[in-house]
Amino acid sequence: MKRVLVITGGGDCPGLNAVIRAIVKRASQEKEWEVIGSIQAFNGILWEPTEIKVLDEKTVAGIHYRGGTILETTNKGGPYAWPVKNTDGTWGTVDRSEEMIRKINYLGINAVINIGGDGSQQISQQLFEQGLNVIGVPKTIDNDLSATDATFGFQTAVQVATEAVDKLVTTAASHNRILILEVMGRDAGWIALHAAVAGGADICLLPEIPYDVNEVLEKIEERFVKDRGFAIIVIAEGAKPKGGTVSEIDSKEVGYKNRRYGGVAAALREQLQDAGCKHDMRETVLGHLQRGGIPVAYDRVLATQYGTKAFEMVLDGEFGHMVSYRHPDIISVPLKEAIMHYNTVQEENYLMKAARGIGISFGDKLE
Ligand code: F6P
Repeated sequence: MKRVLVITGGGDCPGLNAVIRAIVKRASQEKEWEVIGSIQAFNGILWEPTEIKVLDEKTVAGIHYRGGTILETTNKGGPYAWPVKNTDGTWGTVDRSEEMIRKINYLGINAVINIGGDGSQQISQQLFEQGLNVIGVPKTIDNDLSATDATFGFQTAVQVATEAVDKLVTTAASHNRILILEVMGRDAGWIALHAAVAGGADICLLPEIPYDVNEVLEKIEERFVKDRGFAIIVIAEGAKPKGGTVSEIDSKEVGYKNRRYGGVAAALREQLQDAGCKHDMRETVLGHLQRGGIPVAYDRVLATQYGTKAFEMVLDGEFGHMVSYRHPDIISVPLKEAIMHYNTVQEENYLMKAARGIGISFGDKLE
């Protein structure tokens, strides 16, 4: 019997379960293959006792529309930065990758499918370089991986954000207010841009374009006549004012390496007040509502294609590669290439042209 180990790492994302289900269903057509899942990314392998489980058709039945991941996940630690408590009570990290690879071999595992974002695929590449048979599956609601046209989970996040804009419009119009919606997107503003266009927002502020608060105010005033009117602003958590810094929250979580963003909507409200904005303003932080819950059909379909392709890549021995969507095909790309560039919003992207074309302000210049 041959074994493939499935890992879900990093932040969760709608569609993860659909990938797992597709891997298992495709593998079940090959008599000599068994699928095993590690609990909480690579932790399940690194823990003593090991926490892994056999995934068969019964385990994955009906999970394609469930949010989260049946394997659990984590964005802390990992094989290269395993948290350990020092004798003085502080925390440090150790590299347990060699030991983990030995354990994977000892468990009779022939290949690993690592479903994760940028950080997880960097781990995939490192493990591949150390001799592990790894295949990557891209995952992120931020859609910030450049080697693929799309990542599953993104459309679900956009749908949630757009519905939030739709709801804010009615209350903003009733009260003649400015409503600011803070959405996810650390370095790439794709969720904000899509939700602003789909929801008809007036202003969209992105990590890629530092905003000038006076330009934002100018656009707001355009929307108010004698104090009557309203405005909707969608702002990505990683946006920042010109010459300013991003709104970060200090994370005390042990082993958490990511920067934690939050508070940019409240910061913008204060900046607008300081700049002389007299209209009522309220902010809404959408947070993890964008990551939880049922994946939309598009994400389930993409995730299913990623899952079947990943297993086919195992059969073909295409290790050190990541699954990728290049319309209309599902292909494989070297992991090395996949982690090289970030997919950020560029001015040349037609969606930017369309957004500017319908009068959305990015707080960078007067229209
Ligand atoms: O990378 C995906 C993402 O959703 C970011 O947009 C966000 O900043 C981050 O994860 C939040 O992570 P956590 O759940 O660890 O707070």
